[in-house]
Amino acid sequence: MSNEIYTLSGEQSQLILSVGEVAEILYYGKKLHHGFSSHNASSALRRAIPYGRLDVDVPVSLNPQLARGSFGSPGLEGHCNGLNWSPEFKIVCVEQKDHQIVVESCDERAKLKLTITLKLDQYDVLQVSQTLNNYGDKGYSVTRFANTVPLPERANEVLSYFGRWVKEFQQTRTVISAAGFIQENRRGRTSHEHYPALMLGKQGFSEQEGEVWGAHLAWSGNHRMRVDVKADGRRLLQAEALYLPGEIYLQPQQSITTPTLYMSYSNTGLNGMSDHFHQHVRHEILGNRVAKPRPVHLNTWEGIYFQHDPDYIMQMATEAAAIGVERFIVDDGWFKGRNDDTSSLGDWFIDADKYPNGIAGLIDHVHQLGMEFGLWFEPEMINKHSDLYSQHLDWLLAVADYDQPTGRHQYALDLQNPKVSAYLFERLDHFLSQYDIDYVKWDMNREIVQPGHNDMAAGDGQVHAYYELVDKLVEKHPDVDIESCAAGGGRIDYEVLKRTHRFWASDNNDALERQQIQKGMSYFFPPEVMGAHIGAEHSHTTRRTHTLSLRGITALFGHMGLELDPVKTSDEDKRAYRHYVSLHKQWRPLLHTGRTYRLTLDDECAQQGVAVVAPDQSNALVSITQLAMSTYSLSGVLRIPGLNEEKLYRIDVLDKPALLDDIVNCQPEWMYQPVEVTGEWLAQVGIAMPLMDPESAVLLAISLIG
Ligand code: GLA
Repeated sequence: MSNEIYTLSGEQSQLILSVGEVAEILYYGKKLHHGFSSHNASSALRRAIPYGRLDVDVPVSLNPQLARGSFGSPGLEGHCNGLNWSPEFKIVCVEQKDHQIVVESCDERAKLKLTITLKLDQYDVLQVSQTLNNYGDKGYSVTRFANTVPLPERANEVLSYFGRWVKEFQQTRTVISAAGFIQENRRGRTSHEHYPALMLGKQGFSEQEGEVWGAHLAWSGNHRMRVDVKADGRRLLQAEALYLPGEIYLQPQQSITTPTLYMSYSNTGLNGMSDHFHQHVRHEILGNRVAKPRPVHLNTWEGIYFQHDPDYIMQMATEAAAIGVERFIVDDGWFKGRNDDTSSLGDWFIDADKYPNGIAGLIDHVHQLGMEFGLWFEPEMINKHSDLYSQHLDWLLAVADYDQPTGRHQYALDLQNPKVSAYLFERLDHFLSQYDIDYVKWDMNREIVQPGHNDMAAGDGQVHAYYELVDKLVEKHPDVDIESCAAGGGRIDYEVLKRTHRFWASDNNDALERQQIQKGMSYFFPPEVMGAHIGAEHSHTTRRTHTLSLRGITALFGHMGLELDPVKTSDEDKRAYRHYVSLHKQWRPLLHTGRTYRLTLDDECAQQGVAVVAPDQSNALVSITQLAMSTYSLSGVLRIPGLNEEKLYRIDVLDKPALLDDIVNCQPEWMYQPVEVTGEWLAQVGIAMPLMDPESAVLLAISLIG
């Protein structure tokens, strides 16, 4: 009997699902344009059955089950007091509506219902999630619940993430020919260490070439991502929330849903993949929540740290407005007793010593200057040295009788305690209702060591409670923008973006490091959600010094801001900040709607480049950064994809380091006299690369002339 065949189509990709005893993705790749018959689809891929194994074919289903002979990592692990530990689900119905397929199956014996949803949207982003419902009369304990997607055998290389505080979104490639790949995060938040994503493809896939399958688990807590190569060569990707012992217990009639696994297939390399994700973020995740241009920020943190003097901060605001800043954010240090990072988290009341007249005057001042006002909070945290701690020791997220190490001298609050959430909501709501606050920087500076609620493991619940708290606040204050920050980029994922507006990508404002961090982040996130600030000349995290040109060009390609004290800035530097702020404003309509292309440069160890091309291909903004000393005395050619191959474009140098001509006889001719070339020429042939000093950048504008 042949299986039922269902298909989902995007613009460029297609998924074919076969549903028989189980649901199996037969194909997920380039869109087919010439049709096929359902019968042939199943028979063409009917596998051989090798000797020495089970006598039946075992598909890699959307939820692999040991009971059906699937020996690899199952899609669900759980039990009911030791029973029903290996459920066998039978499909009861499949529904297809537009871009979505829902497969429902049941295990009558275990009284469990499994609902799997697949959705492939017009931006070629696939969303997979699964819900398990316990319809029995006893509790069911879930230990693992994963989304499973098979991948073709040719996907033999994984590009994965690693990192740390001030060095987020670093990448590494691993060839997987046998066994597999596993990555676990147990830090209680999305983490700097393992952003929950993988990119897979045939070994050697590049920015512009090759088949790529990108995957991101939208979840802000513990997670596990794995790729298994089975003994028969088939491979599969699993992405799941990682549960701590005992933490998921489904009471009768209760259900649990996995975080959504987002995937995208591209046959035009990583640039094609990231473009799909960017469009999805723009249209599906942000939608009309961000209707106006992203205002340029000034954030006070690296300018004054905990030294808050309202008169001085007002002076900072005045200077910031003169530079062209559009949103002024008062960072950490404004609340009761907060003079350093050892105290006061939890005491969300204005510090009367620092602000004897409150903050309303400061907020008015900022608004009168034509800027929006933002305020920093770290709601989930508490310091031992705080009023809140002395009153509510039992509000800690902890396991009784155990000590736990602090992180930045702080502990986490148990958000599943309704009193805690109510207190935090009341405090945040108070500020947003009482004052004209346009923006909240929501920080989360420590990892979670003992996620215990009533002494039971509750890491998963803590993340859900965090989402609920943000959701409640957003519901009441829908016009307030929220930034997700966790000691920089420790909580960056699609689930948090559904309820926030941008990310603080990193506490590292060193432009050279930022180039790498922003590149890594750009595979899944468009520039407008990437907080990118010009920091002080002397980086506070690396102690390195960079020119304003490198700092300015680097911050230009995100949601731009400044992270410094404009009062203590020389007039010359202020002029330069004004220049980059106004460049950003001029180009932000393009930067925040265009297609991002990470460039493949000939000397890729030493150089990095990015082009953002307008959706109508009328112009583009390009930066080339010299990360280190060039390998050779010439640096090859610069090729820029994405423009209309038939049209003619002019290339202008918009910004370059002052010393660019110092130790070269001459630069390529186009650096002195704009050159005119076709989009095809730019993509295929290119223009000669300039010669640049290490740690410098050049900014180019490409404009359509006919
Ligand atoms: C974290 C954030 C910084 C700043 C400080 C304040 O480190 O990432 O941007 O807000 O906290 O304490």
